Amino acid sequence: MDKILVHGGVRLKGDVRIGGSKNSALPILAATLLTKEKCVIDRVPDLSDIHYMLTILGRLGCEVERASGVVQIRAEKILTEAPYEIVRKMRASVCVLGPLLGREKAAKVSLPGGCVIGDRPIDLHLKGFESLGAKVVVKGGDILLEAKKLQGARINLRGRHGPTVLGTGNIMMAAVLAEGITDIEGAAEEPEVVDLANFLIAMGAKISGAGTQHIQIEGVPELHGANHTVIPDRIEAGTFLVAGAIAGSRVTVTRTNPAHLGAVITALKKAGFELSHTSDSVTISPNGSRRPLHIETLPYPGFPTDMQAQFCAMLATMDGTSVVTETVFPQRFMHVSELKRMGASIDLNNHCATIHGVERLSGAPVMASDLRASAALVLAALPADGITEINRVYHIDRGYEAIDEKLNALGAHIERVKS
Ligand code: EPZ
Repeated sequence: MDKILVHGGVRLKGDVRIGGSKNSALPILAATLLTKEKCVIDRVPDLSDIHYMLTILGRLGCEVERASGVVQIRAEKILTEAPYEIVRKMRASVCVLGPLLGREKAAKVSLPGGCVIGDRPIDLHLKGFESLGAKVVVKGGDILLEAKKLQGARINLRGRHGPTVLGTGNIMMAAVLAEGITDIEGAAEEPEVVDLANFLIAMGAKISGAGTQHIQIEGVPELHGANHTVIPDRIEAGTFLVAGAIAGSRVTVTRTNPAHLGAVITALKKAGFELSHTSDSVTISPNGSRRPLHIETLPYPGFPTDMQAQFCAMLATMDGTSVVTETVFPQRFMHVSELKRMGASIDLNNHCATIHGVERLSGAPVMASDLRASAALVLAALPADGITEINRVYHIDRGYEAIDEKLNALGAHIERVKS
C-alpha cells in the first residue's frame, strides 16, 4: 500500500484546476443503464471509485470506453445482478439499483457494508422502491428487487439525519420510466442531485423541482442517449481552499462553481480569511486575523459534512476554542485521533468536537481512514513541524485526483512512496 510523506513548514501559492465531481459522476454513470443508446459523459474524474463504477457497469453488460476524462457507455443488453466482489468495495454502487429497476424491473445488488464514517443504511431507498411497486427482499446479504410494473407515487425521503442524496438519485432513476407521476418530498437539494436530473432530462425524462425538497417526475416510456459534462467537484474545491487557509499566502481554485461553495466560503470568511471570486474561480488569502468557529454540518445548502474533517484540521491551530457538530454522520470523527497524534487538542463527545487551538502541529506517522479524514491529515501536515507519514493512501485516491501533485504544484513538498 502506497504512503505519502508530507514535509511540513511549506507555504502555498498559485492556482489549482478543479476536476469533475465524483459524487455527481457516480450516479450519472449509473443512469446510462436507463437507455440502450450511447451516452457520452465528459469531465469524469480519474478516481478509483469511478473505476469501480465502470467495472460494475462493464460486468452488467455495458460497453464502456474511456479516453482521459470522457467516458462513452452503451447499455444495449444488460444483466441485473451486480457482482459482490466489486460492490462491497464501494457503497455508492447502490445507485445502480434505481436504473436497473427502472429499465429491467429487477435488480440484485449486495447490501453495502458500513464504513468508517458510520452506519450507512439504505432503508429510505428501499422504502421508495416499494412505494413505486417493487417487491423488496433482503436475503443472504443481497438486495433483491422485482416489479411487474412501476407506478408513480408520493414518497417522503426524509430520514432522521435529513434527506438522502443517493436515495433521491435512486428514486429519480427508478421513477423516470414508471407509469404516472412521482412526487418526492424531502428530496436532497445537493448540486449533484440537480446534475443527475439535468442528465436524465437530456435523455428525455420529465423532471421538475430538482434542487428543492420537492421533485416531481412524470414517467415516460423510454429514454434515449445523451451527452453531458459533469459539474465541478465542490468538495475538492473546498479542500484546496482550506489548504490555502492553513498554509497559503494566496490560493485560487479554478474551473469551479462558487455558487456551490456558499456555506464553505461563509465559514472561511467568519474564520478571518479574505475570499473573492469570479464566475468560475475562488481565491483565498489570509488577512492577519484568524478566529475560531462554531460549525454544524447540515444537508445542502448547509455546511457540508464532506468538509468537516478539513475544517477540523484548520481549526486545530486556530487561536481560541472552536466547536464542530456533525449532524449528518454523527460518528464521522476518524480524523480526530490522528490529528491528536500530531499534537492537536480536541475533546470529542458524541457528535461534537471541541477544538482548543494550539500554536503548531508536529509531523507524525498517521493512518488514513475515510476519504475526507485522509485529506484533512494531508492539510494538517502542510504547516506542521517535521515530516508526516500518511499510510493507506488509497483512501485519498478514491476521491482526489493526484492531490499530492496538485499540492506540490502550489509549493508543497509531498513524496509518494510506492510500497
Ligand atoms: C452522499 O452519500 C455522498 N456520497 C457522501 O459523500 C456525502 O457525505 C453524503 O451524500 C451526505 O452529503 C456520494 O454521493 C457517492 P445520504 P449518501 O444518503 O447519499 C442517512 C464523500 O466523502 N440515511 O445523503 O450515501 C445516512 O445514514 C462521501 O464523497 C438513512 O438513514 O448519504 C446519513 O446519516 C462520503 N437511510 C444521512 O441519511 C437511508 O436510506 C445522509 O446520508 C439513506 C441515508
